[in-house]
Amino acid sequence: MATGDKYRAEHARSLKDPDGFWAEQAEKLDWSKRWDKVLDASRAPFYAWFTGGEMNACHNALDRHADGPRGSQAALVYDSPVTNTKKTFTYRELRDAVAQLAGAIAAQGVKKGDRVIVYMPMIPEAAMAMLACARLGAIHSVVFGGFAANELATRIDDSRPKLVLAASCGLEPGRIVHYKPLLDQAIEIAQHKVPKVILFQRPQAVATMKPGRDLDWVETVGAAEPHACVPVEATHPLYILYTSGTTGQPKGVVHDTGGYCVALYWSMKNLYGIEPGEMWWTASDVGWAVGHSYTVYGPLLYGATSILYEGKPVGTPDAGAFWRVISEYKAVALFTAPTAFRAIKKEDPDGKLLRSYDLASFRTLFLAGERGDPPTIQWAQTMLGVPIVDHWWQTETGWSICGNFQGLDPMPIKPGSCSVPAPGWDLHVLDDNGKPMKRGEVGALVARLPMPPGTFPTLWQAEQRFKEAYLSEFPGHYKTGDAGVIDADGYVSVMTRVDDVINVAGHRLSTGQIEEVLASHDAVAECACVGIADEMKGQVPLGFLVLKSGVSRPEGEIVREVVQMVRDKIGPVAFFKQALVVPRLPKTRSGKILRGTMQKIADGQPWKMPATIDDPAALEEVTGSLKSAGFAAKG
Ligand code: COA
Ligand code: AMP
Repeated sequence: MATGDKYRAEHARSLKDPDGFWAEQAEKLDWSKRWDKVLDASRAPFYAWFTGGEMNACHNALDRHADGPRGSQAALVYDSPVTNTKKTFTYRELRDAVAQLAGAIAAQGVKKGDRVIVYMPMIPEAAMAMLACARLGAIHSVVFGGFAANELATRIDDSRPKLVLAASCGLEPGRIVHYKPLLDQAIEIAQHKVPKVILFQRPQAVATMKPGRDLDWVETVGAAEPHACVPVEATHPLYILYTSGTTGQPKGVVHDTGGYCVALYWSMKNLYGIEPGEMWWTASDVGWAVGHSYTVYGPLLYGATSILYEGKPVGTPDAGAFWRVISEYKAVALFTAPTAFRAIKKEDPDGKLLRSYDLASFRTLFLAGERGDPPTIQWAQTMLGVPIVDHWWQTETGWSICGNFQGLDPMPIKPGSCSVPAPGWDLHVLDDNGKPMKRGEVGALVARLPMPPGTFPTLWQAEQRFKEAYLSEFPGHYKTGDAGVIDADGYVSVMTRVDDVINVAGHRLSTGQIEEVLASHDAVAECACVGIADEMKGQVPLGFLVLKSGVSRPEGEIVREVVQMVRDKIGPVAFFKQALVVPRLPKTRSGKILRGTMQKIADGQPWKMPATIDDPAALEEVTGSLKSAGFAAKG
């Protein structure tokens, strides 16, 4: 067979016969009740997979292996350079710990369908928390530790959890992040009152407990009885993961149980080329989509060993950290974001540190989360000498939309492209009027419905928002929110977002949300925020502030205050460090702020005076401010 034939045959079959294709994959998992329908279109455009079927994700990820020949195989390896700790859990040990934790959670009255928020750093207990919820059919919602109290409060109010599972702190290089005060503050701000908290005390920061509400993890779990897996419908939500929307109200992306497990299982072998028993490493926080699917669920469903790494690519202790982990555990693959490799390249451009490690086991590097820029891909290729696979992902999709399928027949890699659509993805490039564009032309990337299993069936208690945000602009299609191109060979390249989402060091943020914070400063009359290019982080936010008339305080002071406000309200992860005070914001005649033009000017890209501009002088003033602040500006 020629390269790509196997892939093309699988992809074609997945579109022609989705029922046959996905049923065959589903047979490989344990079901307590077989499905009635594979693809259920009875509520289109809300599609469902494996309706009538029942299973449990935790059973499939743990018990199935723990009670079989993989019982004494490592399931999870915890490696934490920030605490100098290493620990391995076999499938049996992990299952027993999770069953016990599930018992403790159930003892707090948590039942199937109840929500549980998990606010924890990269420690094994975070993965246990997710799996214990899955065991009970409770719906977990993990909140990334780099978010501030306000963001946590928004998620508490939207998901209304019966319980929060938290740790006392997270550890950033040189800094302890005290989670407990942030959690206390979030519960205080939230309208929904969280009845119980189970807190894992870390020795680096032992937190004060609130009597009557807070329970000590070790004591509570120690006193609990192990809990069995509760079978749930295939369509039952496994988790809610909040991601940036256009406003301060994040979108609660729901992932179901059956379809999600089936898709992840398929991907481990066919996309990632992994065999059960192999050592797999995803260096992404469990607070992000990639951490859910490929630190926790995917590798465990497949019977592989997953590395959970509490550290950074650089600084813990140096830019050789990733090579150390790969060689120490004989990892066969690593999945991370290009920004991590840019950080390593900056510190060790010639790969001197790489030479002290044996990377013989290492087969493939997978990159996602932002555009894999060709220089980074080429650098990684030169250093590692293995395929560097860029693949395209979203929180909403739960797994890859496009990739290069290492377990089928790997196709040639084109740096800058995320290769070809995954099974079930029928991708098209459309213009603003919904008309198909020619191969090679850039437009909106959309997927013809239905999307494959594993993708989000809806937003948490917001069906209307789901329809409006994703399905209404291009009827019959899912709007990915990304713009890109499909070339003559069918390779897809994702160029940019079409909305106000920006990608800062692989972290997804909304400029609209940052603007809401800027606008709440009492000296600010109007504001805008754009994502500007950054060599290391891909993009970073830049604010523009118009002050209220009569404000006479020094501009530098106001800028410092808004920077602190974004840190306090959204979190350090927003990386909002710069803002410019400008006399006016350039707008169209209909009043729309010309953010795209401002961003081009700041990045030194060519730009044209928009025909619809209301007052060209306003844009000239902004250009002047950008130039004097040291930003490039071409005409
Ligand atoms: N808890 C609390 N704070 C956190 C945090 C967490 N879990 N993660 C990051 N932060 C803080 C950082 O300490 C930093 O704070 P500072 O401004 O006070 O220094 C800020 O948020 C920005 O962090 P980050 O964007 O991670 O920048 P960095 O300079 O610390 O590290 C990289 C840069 C490239 C090493 C890092 O961003 C990285 O590894 N990115 C990979 C992203 C990823 O895995 N994405 C998932 C999709 S695959
Ligand atoms: P998140 O929901 O945080 O996973 O972010 C999803 C967004 O990240 C996508 O909509 C893209 O804009 C971007 N993204 C993810 N992977 C890639 C990739 N391989 N190439 C280009 N952009 C990507």
